[in-house]
Amino acid sequence: MGIIKKFRITTFKKEVNKIRLKKVSLSFHKRQILDDISLNIREGEICGLLGPNGVGKSTLFNIILGLIKPNYGNVFINDTDVTNLPIYKRAIDFSLSVVPQSGGVFSNLTSLENLKAISEIVIKKKNERIFKIEKMISKFELDPVKNIKAKYLSGGQRKKVSIAMSLMSDPKIILMDEPFQGLDIMSTRDLQETIVNLQTEDIKRSCIISDHAARDLLAISDRAIILANKKIVAEGTPSELLNDINAKNVYFGDSFKIN
Ligand SMILES: Nc1ncnc2c1ncn2[C@@H]1O[C@H](COP(=O)(O)OP(=O)(O)O)[C@@H](O)[C@H]1O
Ligand SMILES: [Mg+2]
Repeated sequence: MGIIKKFRITTFKKEVNKIRLKKVSLSFHKRQILDDISLNIREGEICGLLGPNGVGKSTLFNIILGLIKPNYGNVFINDTDVTNLPIYKRAIDFSLSVVPQSGGVFSNLTSLENLKAISEIVIKKKNERIFKIEKMISKFELDPVKNIKAKYLSGGQRKKVSIAMSLMSDPKIILMDEPFQGLDIMSTRDLQETIVNLQTEDIKRSCIISDHAARDLLAISDRAIILANKKIVAEGTPSELLNDINAKNVYFGDSFKIN
């Protein structure tokens, strides 16, 4: 698959930090998962978080969201230390939204009912809610399936509903946890375009996207970070990573190519 991104933001005019982790470590029952992780996610970038299954990508997302508190280290959003802030404060004060690895939708509600349910929480005015729901249905081409229960949708359609729900609050930071999982080639391509469009719609929006498979993610990332063995082993633009000896040794292997 070729690179679909029309442009890459390789040099940021103003490198504004959106999310910063400083020396974060975490253990589950004495088993260390993350060891001394420091990273920056910049305003307006699509940042890929790569790493093998079980390395701690979802855990890192949960630390950013506020679902898990690290044993050591700090989490900053917009340069504010949020390490001790609860999840709802982070979501509201910093306009943070998540597309979870699995689920993310109410399976017994239709696509439309799912969107309505979230809109009632995040949008106060009724006419704004109706407008936003219609916008999402058209943006994600959900009209043919709007009255179908989420449990009967295909994986790709369900993912679209889940992303539409996470966008309802117009978030400035979006975390997507393995959004390409289980999608066929066409749906993957569709989703890649959707994600790139999220960035072109609002140039200040930051997206962090995790995946264990590099190809689909690197095609749309401005920058990526590779986690392996509890640590960040490499970070940089996709082309920098493909030439990085550490990244090759521990993650890509010798024969990996993006095209
Ligand atoms: N609540 C938990 N209690 C104990 N171990 C956990 C918990 N959540 C995740 N883990 C373990 O932490 C490691 C990292 O998990 P995870 O962040 O889900 O990995 P990834 O998303 O990269 O596949 C795994 O070994 C997993 O079994
Ligand atoms: Mg995960």
